[in-house]
Amino acid sequence: MKSTIDNTVEFVKEKLMGAEAGHDWFHIERVWKLSRKIAETETCDQEVVELSALLHDIADPKFHNGDETIAPKISREFLTEQNVSEETIEKVLFVIENISFKNRGNAPLDPSIELKIVQDADRIDAIGAIGVARTFNFGGFKNNPMYDPEIKPSLHMSKEEYKKSNGTTINHFYEKLLLLKDLMNTETGKKLAEERHNYMLNFLDQFYKEWNVD
Ligand code: ADP
Ligand code: NI
Repeated sequence: MKSTIDNTVEFVKEKLMGAEAGHDWFHIERVWKLSRKIAETETCDQEVVELSALLHDIADPKFHNGDETIAPKISREFLTEQNVSEETIEKVLFVIENISFKNRGNAPLDPSIELKIVQDADRIDAIGAIGVARTFNFGGFKNNPMYDPEIKPSLHMSKEEYKKSNGTTINHFYEKLLLLKDLMNTETGKKLAEERHNYMLNFLDQFYKEWNVD
């Protein structure tokens, strides 16, 4: 007999058919595997971790006119059909409603260990070589410029500079990707983020070197 996890994999694959490459089934699969890896070193509810990882981008508000209510609704419906207990459903919804980097200003005061794990996994997949690839893919998908050479991006840009560079793909490294290493919740997450963070710094160095042909 097929397990709830098997059924969830099938459901998510089907739902994300044709999604932007940075938010497709393969992103989910990596986050799922990373979550399992981090969970090995934590005391947690494995089923909640796996279901949350699988369902966390089922209806990303970015691709649904900013509507943040669709993903929890779809997830609740699906999990209820699967006869998952109300307690587990509540825990999974808590993760998917609070995982986003964008909403970190409203982060819950008392995050569950399952939220910490899946959030680390999602953030690890946003950095390193995969992070670079996903970010340029998203920028291309939005038809954004890669870089504005008049702006020297840094983590300490003035408001004015930020506004001007906002919308370039390179800027996304400064507004998000380079911040993630220090936001890791778990020890395993911290370790995994370190190497990927350094890779991005090297990537940016090389990018500017090649941009500035002399
Ligand atoms: P979260 O859901 O945690 O708020 P997002 O879904 O906005 O995070 O971002 C996920 C990934 O999508 C980013 O790590 C990046 O690769 C890509 N992305 C999001 N916004 C942008 C952007 N403005 N430019 C380039 N890539 C982006
Ligand atoms: Ni994600």
